[in-house]
Amino acid sequence: MNFSKRLLDWYKIEHRDLPWRHTKDPYTIWLSEIILQQTQVKQGLPYFRKFISRFPNVHDLAEANEDEVLKLWQGLGYYSRARNLHFTAQYVSKTLNGKFPDNYKDLKTLKGVGDYTAAAVASFAYDEPVAVVDGNVQRVLSRFLGIHTPINSTQGVKEFKLKAQEMLDVSQPSTYNQAIMEFGALHCRPKSPKCMFCVFQEDCAAFQKGIQEELPIKQKKTKVKKRYFSYLVLTDSEENTLVQKRSGAGIWKGLYEFPLMESEHPPEVPTSEDVLTKIQLKKSSIKSIKFYNEKPVVHLLSHRKIMASFIEIRLSCKLADVELSEKMELQKIKDLHQLAVPVLIQNFIESELTLA
Ligand code: ADE
Repeated sequence: MNFSKRLLDWYKIEHRDLPWRHTKDPYTIWLSEIILQQTQVKQGLPYFRKFISRFPNVHDLAEANEDEVLKLWQGLGYYSRARNLHFTAQYVSKTLNGKFPDNYKDLKTLKGVGDYTAAAVASFAYDEPVAVVDGNVQRVLSRFLGIHTPINSTQGVKEFKLKAQEMLDVSQPSTYNQAIMEFGALHCRPKSPKCMFCVFQEDCAAFQKGIQEELPIKQKKTKVKKRYFSYLVLTDSEENTLVQKRSGAGIWKGLYEFPLMESEHPPEVPTSEDVLTKIQLKKSSIKSIKFYNEKPVVHLLSHRKIMASFIEIRLSCKLADVELSEKMELQKIKDLHQLAVPVLIQNFIESELTLA
């Protein structure tokens, strides 16, 4: 027996009786799907009932005051979805004369309607053979087919969409789509799937290997670490400063920067003593120390959020006379622009150090 036949037999017996499953009206289906993006069926049902009884059709919703829409939405969170809902109702009501687009491609042009919602409305309302892919569907397919590609990776998103479309029963896309989502929600659950009573036991790759609880795989988002950089921008009477070349691994390797103090907490203006630990100067040669920028410059990298402060340190001595550590190099401020530096530093040079 094939996958769809077994799935649909299961669905016939086990499905929940939900109001949006008794209609082919695209407005009702779209409304239910927008609400269900926000919450689970149990919590979404009262919201759906409130909305559909107050706004039985798209014109009613379009003519509503935005405050009323937001009030009915209250508790679902993510209010931009409610605003998009209202905007799209007005667009469909006025520009499309109340007629929803009748296919997947055109549905996707509506504000707030992405891949999933377009596939849901196209298949439920118009029987277009396009597969829905949500977390439930990804879980069922990853277990049944034994797919280990992370569901939230670019490749995974593509792969699951392709597989879902291959598996779709094109003779009854509406019921099939409802059924596979329902199977994921009720039976092939994230925790404690009901494998002991499953119609797919013999063919389910995950069950056969006993790895159903390990699938689907979700890639951990790399946690973005916050780092505070204080760049020491020394200036002497000859318009010289100090720079150092970045060594180590890292994406800034080989680029120049000002002497750097790093911390895990927002920095204060460094004291003379702090500066002297970095650069061997006489304490008496430090005339003043202050921030160039009151607020740190935020610089985002894939795994780091750098908050950079630039510290102006005026000197009475000449840097040319100072014995520098191996890493430090003397540099004319007017020639700084010739060095290869990270964008963060380049922006600072251009905005603060460009000499008249
Ligand atoms: N979750 C999202 N859409 C759904 C639908 N149409 N039925 C049940 N659960 C859902």
